[in-house]
Amino acid sequence: MAILTIETTCDETAAAVISESGQVLGATLATQTELHAQYQGIVPEVAARAHLERILPVIDTALRQSGILPAQLQAIAVAHKPGLAGSLLVGVVAAKTLAIAWGKPLIAINHLHAHIYACQFGSSRSIYPCVGLIVSGGHTSLYDCQQALHLDYIGGTIDDAAGEVFDKVGAMLGLPFPGGPEVSRRAAKGDPQAYQFPRSLRQQGNFNFSFSGLKTAVRYQLIGPGERDFSHLSLNEREVEDLCASFQQAVVDVLVVKSIAAVKHYRRQRLCVGGGVAANECLRRQLQQAADESGIELWIAPPELCTDNAVMGAIALEKLAIGDFAPVILDVEPGLQRGH
Ligand code: KG4
Ligand code: ZN
Repeated sequence: MAILTIETTCDETAAAVISESGQVLGATLATQTELHAQYQGIVPEVAARAHLERILPVIDTALRQSGILPAQLQAIAVAHKPGLAGSLLVGVVAAKTLAIAWGKPLIAINHLHAHIYACQFGSSRSIYPCVGLIVSGGHTSLYDCQQALHLDYIGGTIDDAAGEVFDKVGAMLGLPFPGGPEVSRRAAKGDPQAYQFPRSLRQQGNFNFSFSGLKTAVRYQLIGPGERDFSHLSLNEREVEDLCASFQQAVVDVLVVKSIAAVKHYRRQRLCVGGGVAANECLRRQLQQAADESGIELWIAPPELCTDNAVMGAIALEKLAIGDFAPVILDVEPGLQRGH
């Protein structure tokens, strides 16, 4: 017996088939990066249309890989919040339609909770209770997590998300979209001390983040205030690498300090980190170092499960176990979210 999970919150169309014991039997993902690259950002209408074309073949492929027949499914789970409205709708309508057609219960997945649950794939024991950090293109949030489905929001970004600034800095430097992996690749060769960038809210006594000042500081390093044109930049490779490294270090410093402080404040033993930016090598390394120094257990989602995917939808098994099903009138809840 198994569940089918569907993920279409942003620009990845993904489906997975997961056994009752949490084994991944099939998983497919269709990325849209090439469609959005020309705009240097995700265009919601383009994303929704691409999901529409891809959703059924993606589900079909995941099912075929798994060897599980629709009749053998115990439930159909879908991420219904948060995300882009049009993108969410495609996944939710597909899930509802299949649930009705195949006579299966529906399970609603909170995409943010699933990002933290992705850490479970690196651990043989339960990762809960823990403090959870989500660092993605849309969110930078800290949660006190008692259990997989019981999370309390304790702080987050008051402006840009960490992934968003990686992408914007990548765009300023004329790097391909999405900027995160590109900036990180160059940063690996640069000097993190070369430029002094701000670490906003680092020493504040709360668990909020702010990255827009850092974004502006990078911008002013490249072009003057009031200027808009980045096309005449003439940085050599070394300068780009140093700038990327210094920028990345500023983001990592704040994420590490605040996450470790949150674990101590909430008297948890574990820190679990998920979301696209959690794939960042420098962040992973420095989180590990800080966790070791503080005697904190660290779980970071496997790199391939940091960015959006349907495998982390395995969190739906927790709802299956307690019979927490969604009505077939399940609606999408777009937009940025904090708590539940
Ligand atoms: O979790 P995700 O796939 O989508 C959202 O739910 O937002 O995260 C995507 C974000 C993008 O901003 C991307 O640039 C960033 O994660 N990202 C990275 C890296 N890989 C992906 N940022 C920094 N370093 C990376 N290696
Ligand atoms: Zn995500």
